[in-house]
Amino acid sequence: MNHSLFDLTGKTALVTGGSKGLGKAMARIFAEAGADVFISSRSAEELQAAATEIGEGLTIKVEWMVADMSDRAQVRALAAEAEMRFGKVDILVNNAGINNPQAIDEITDEIWDRNVEVDLTSVMALTRALVPGMKARKWGRVIHISSVLGVGGRLKRNVYCACKAALIGLARASALDLGPYGITVNCLCPGPFLTDMPGKLLSAEEKQYFADRTALKRWAAPRELAGPALLLASEAGSYITGEAIVVDGGAAVNTL
Ligand SMILES: NC(=O)c1ccc[n+]([C@@H]2O[C@H](COP(=O)([O-])OP(=O)(O)OC[C@H]3O[C@@H](n4cnc5c(N)ncnc54)[C@H](OP(=O)(O)O)[C@@H]3O)[C@@H](O)[C@H]2O)c1
Repeated sequence: MNHSLFDLTGKTALVTGGSKGLGKAMARIFAEAGADVFISSRSAEELQAAATEIGEGLTIKVEWMVADMSDRAQVRALAAEAEMRFGKVDILVNNAGINNPQAIDEITDEIWDRNVEVDLTSVMALTRALVPGMKARKWGRVIHISSVLGVGGRLKRNVYCACKAALIGLARASALDLGPYGITVNCLCPGPFLTDMPGKLLSAEEKQYFADRTALKRWAAPRELAGPALLLASEAGSYITGEAIVVDGGAAVNTL
């Protein structure tokens, strides 16, 4: 990394869901930019492998912790552990998420509650826990991973669309709370990225349809979210706050 605006030397970043997909790609770019990186998910095995990959060829520190974002006590423990091991968290990426497709009249209370807990409430709880340290240091970057489905809709994605839209509202409100303390809060809204999540959910026809909807006529690689994340995490993005940045290859503007 050779431009000082994007340099994260001396910073520490916590990326939830950093064991694979978009979280791992964002954690790697932060590490390449010089940050120490802390990642979490529910799988020790995957976290261990991801930590090795993220730190490969670099001298920064990569650590990990198993934490289930559906459990409020584990969310609190994750925040405490990250601050204890690294001394501070400067950059928080709320990336862990799940997607259980159901039509409005098929949603069970259990599916609704679990999705809201992981995709929305844990984001509030983790941010709330880490903001006091950022305020004291007068510097912080909070990035929620919403979705292009947070600004639009899709059939059978009721709870997912609701949570991803709510993250945008949360970011806007907390950007106003935290701006006076030098903390920015933004959302990234990815379109179709090739990770396990759409890999498991979509048929071959749906995958082709998603590619066709984009201007670029293809799915994105996880690494293609890393640049926008680095912009928001670094000095390069110091005057961007309360925003929801769509990174979707032009899918959302394709309305007809
Ligand atoms: N891929 C896309 O096209 C796309 C588009 C728009 C938005 N997004 C959003 O981007 C984020 C990352 O998605 P992805 O595509 O990279 O998905 P992914 O490959 O399935 O990765 C999801 C990550 O979240 C973790 N996770 C899931 N449930 C968790 C829980 N209860 N507690 C802790 N960690 C949990 C997973 O690890 P474990 O399962 O091992 O815990 C994994 O590390 C999500 O918020 C997703 O909604 C993705």
